[in-house]
Amino acid sequence: MPKKKDSFNIAVIGAGAIGYDHIASFKQHPAAKVVALAEVSPERGREAADTFGIPELVTDYKKLLKRADIDVFSIALPNYLHASVALAALKAGKHVMLDKPMATNATDAAKLVVEAKKQKVLLMVGQNQRFIPEVQTAKQLITKGVLGDVYHAKTAWCRRAGIPRIGSWFTQKQFAGGGGTYDIGVHALDRCLYLMGEFDAASVSGQTYAQFGPRGQGSGTWGKSEIDPKARFDVDDLSVALIKLKSGRTVLLETSWAAHQPDGDNNGTQLFGTEAGIKFPPLQLFRNGVHGYSTELVNHLPGLVDGNRMKHFVDVLLGKAEPHVKPSESLAIQKILDAIYTSARTGREVRIK
Ligand SMILES: NC(=O)c1ccc[n+]([C@@H]2O[C@H](COP(=O)([O-])OP(=O)(O)OC[C@H]3O[C@@H](n4cnc5c(N)ncnc54)[C@H](O)[C@@H]3O)[C@@H](O)[C@H]2O)c1
Repeated sequence: MPKKKDSFNIAVIGAGAIGYDHIASFKQHPAAKVVALAEVSPERGREAADTFGIPELVTDYKKLLKRADIDVFSIALPNYLHASVALAALKAGKHVMLDKPMATNATDAAKLVVEAKKQKVLLMVGQNQRFIPEVQTAKQLITKGVLGDVYHAKTAWCRRAGIPRIGSWFTQKQFAGGGGTYDIGVHALDRCLYLMGEFDAASVSGQTYAQFGPRGQGSGTWGKSEIDPKARFDVDDLSVALIKLKSGRTVLLETSWAAHQPDGDNNGTQLFGTEAGIKFPPLQLFRNGVHGYSTELVNHLPGLVDGNRMKHFVDVLLGKAEPHVKPSESLAIQKILDAIYTSARTGREVRIK
C-alpha cells in the first residue's frame, strides 16, 4: 500500500507530553527523520525543537500540509483535533500516525477510514498496549489454542488518583470529548478485543460517574497544556460497561481516573477460556494439570512485535511489517466507547450496527 521509499520525513503535530514520545520514538528508526514540528505554544515548540534538533517549527500545522517532502503526520493533539487534523493530512496524501482516541465520535472516525483507503496511505491509531510483552505473549498462547475458546473477559484500567491535571483540556468535554473512558478505557478495551480477535460489538450497557474531578480531587500530573482554573470538570472519572460482541462473547470494562481502591494503578486484563484462563500483569495461566489445578507465571515468549509503535509504523511503510493496529479496529473501538456514553446518558442498552 505505501509508496516504495527507503526513508521517511516525519512532521510531529503537538509537542505536549506524548508529542515528546512520538519524536523520541521515531528517532530510534534509522529510516525516519523528524523534519518539522507544529505546536501552538511557542515556548513548548521551541523547547522540543531545540531538544531534538528539529529544523522547522511552525505554530500552524496547515503550513506543513503543503510541504511535499513530508511523508508522515504524527498527531499528538488534544482529542477534539484528532479527526480534523488527521483528515486534512490524509487528504494531502500523508501517512498518519494518530494518537488515541481515534476521534471524539464514530462518524468522524469513519471518515478517516474511508479517506485513508481512498488515498492508499497508512493510518494507524496509537494503541500502544497491544505492543507490550504480556499482551503479545498472551496473544501467542491464545493463537496456539492453549485457552480453548475464550468466551468472556474482564479488562480494566483503574487509577486511584490519576486524572490528567484538573483544568487542562483533558477534563473539559468540549476539548476531550469524554473523560477516563476515552483516555484509558480505550487502551484496556483495545488490548482485550485484540486478544479476543473480535472488535465488533452487538450491544453495550454502560454507566459513567464523576465523583472526584468536580470536587477538585484525584488529580494526577500527566500533560503539559495550560490549566484553566475556572474550567468546569464535565467528563467522567469512572465508568463501567458490559459489552456483548457480535459472537455473543462478553467483556466487562472498568475505567477510573480516580476512585477509592487499594492499588494506585490497576491496569490489567483477564480472559476466560474453555481450557484455561489468563490474567496480567504479571502474566499468569490457570488450568487443570496432571497434578491438579495450577497457576503458572508465564515468561514472555520470543518473536514479539517491536514495542516501539513508531518504529513499527516505519517498518510498515518500508514493507517490512504488516500493520499491527488496523483503522477498522480503531473505528469499532470508537463505536463501543461512544455507546458507553450514550447508554449512560439514556439509561438504556445501546445496539451497535
Ligand atoms: N498512546 C498513549 O499512550 C497516549 C498517552 C498519552 C496521551 N495520548 C494522547 O495524545 C494526545 C495528546 O496528549 P498529551 O498528553 O500530549 O497532551 P498535552 O496537553 O500534554 O499536549 C498537547 C499539545 O498539543 C498542543 N496543541 C494544541 N492545539 C494545537 C494545534 N492546533 N496545533 C499544534 N499544537 C497544538 C498543545 O499546545 C500541547 O502542547 C491526546 O489525545 C492523548 O489522549 C496518548
